[in-house]
Amino acid sequence: MEITNIVAKIIICEQNELTIEQKSIVEAAKKATLSSYAPYSHYNVGAGVLLDNGKIIMGSNQENAAYPSGICAERTALFYAGTAFPEAKVKKIAIIASHNGEFTSSICSPCGACRQVMLESQFRAGNPIEVLLCSSNKIYIFESVDDLLPFGFDYSDLKG
Ligand code: THU
Repeated sequence: MEITNIVAKIIICEQNELTIEQKSIVEAAKKATLSSYAPYSHYNVGAGVLLDNGKIIMGSNQENAAYPSGICAERTALFYAGTAFPEAKVKKIAIIASHNGEFTSSICSPCGACRQVMLESQFRAGNPIEVLLCSSNKIYIFESVDDLLPFGFDYSDLKG
């Protein structure tokens, strides 16, 4: 028998410690919460994506009376980025949630499906994507999607 541990690196910082690029996607994520359609959960999520062509893409969660038909903010942003700029590589993504008009005091942690979609974006980019999970005061920075989805299923698994 062999036992291995999976270690994930997380950088925890405050807004004033972010770079200009990081601040710009956090601002985009905050702005995107305003377009969230969340009449069922009242949990308004925004995502800001930085592409290697310098564009910043926003996405928000879009809910549906048939609950599973809704979609998260991260996937809205990443799928739109793939639609509008199919050749561009995703460099960074920031995510934040608000509830009753206030940014939440706990970070917004992506669901499994969004982590899987981020992993695909990272594969397409060919470089690690930096992920910023934001709360009202702290930001958790993951330098790669691998740290959020260790042991993930990707293209290499399909080759058998
Ligand atoms: N949601 C997101 O948009 N992103 C996340 O990272 C977590 C959850 C949305 C889905 C749903 O509209 C609402 O938040 C409550 O789950």
